[in-house]
Amino acid sequence: MSIEPIGIFDSGIGGTSIWKEIHAVLPFENTIYLADSINAPYGLKSKQDIIDLSVKNTEFLLNKNCKLIVVACNTATTNAIDYLRHNYKVPFIGIEPAIKPAALKTQNRAIGILATKGTLSSALFSKTATLFASNIQVVEQIGDGIVELIEEGKLHSDEMKSLLKLYLKPMLEANIDYLVLGCTHYPYLIPLLLELLPNHVKIIDSGEAVARQTKAVLEQKQLINTQRTIPKTLFFTNGHPEVMQQLLGPGLKVQHLHF
Ligand code: DGL
Repeated sequence: MSIEPIGIFDSGIGGTSIWKEIHAVLPFENTIYLADSINAPYGLKSKQDIIDLSVKNTEFLLNKNCKLIVVACNTATTNAIDYLRHNYKVPFIGIEPAIKPAALKTQNRAIGILATKGTLSSALFSKTATLFASNIQVVEQIGDGIVELIEEGKLHSDEMKSLLKLYLKPMLEANIDYLVLGCTHYPYLIPLLLELLPNHVKIIDSGEAVARQTKAVLEQKQLINTQRTIPKTLFFTNGHPEVMQQLLGPGLKVQHLHF
């Protein structure tokens, strides 16, 4: 048994979509969520900068005694998780775009992937794409500006709708039947995407798989919290707490912190 918290970090508030999945699967685990919003987007930074920021976030969570760290950011995972695993003893769970399930399921032999520049240009992404999707068409699209709009609280804006229309166009022209969301901010776009996409296009993200993997690793390492009490959930941001609060709903308290 281990009552220490699970640490979760993202470049911003998008990883709260992953926190929700983890909390649903592991409702008794204490959690600490860290949103490095002041440095978002990570997707436009160099690999070294992404590693340095991921180290800073990891150190923060380790100082709070986290027993496992979820890198709830595709950009940080694809650029920094190898470094983190080599340099820290704690187990790390990462998130990568779900190309494999989309490539296995597509009937049209064409899938779309929306992700940050940092994810799409990473070596880990190319490796996965080559391994699982080399015999189908993969329409890659950088989601320039999306993370920024979400961080500014403009999830439901006309600006967001116009950007998405622009980014979906080449995918629809290629007749995709699966859209992979390769950034943890993007699950919050699903209602808007459903409005813009034809019915036959299915949306895939990796949130549920990450939650299942987190549970499996905790079980395997005997780190599950077996106490059946209401867990402690802490949310920290160095950005705008009110924007994060909107995504989480009123029941969870968000604290502003400089880090
Ligand atoms: N949520 C991050 C991800 O999954 C956003 C990256 C960024 O800050 O650009 O990639």
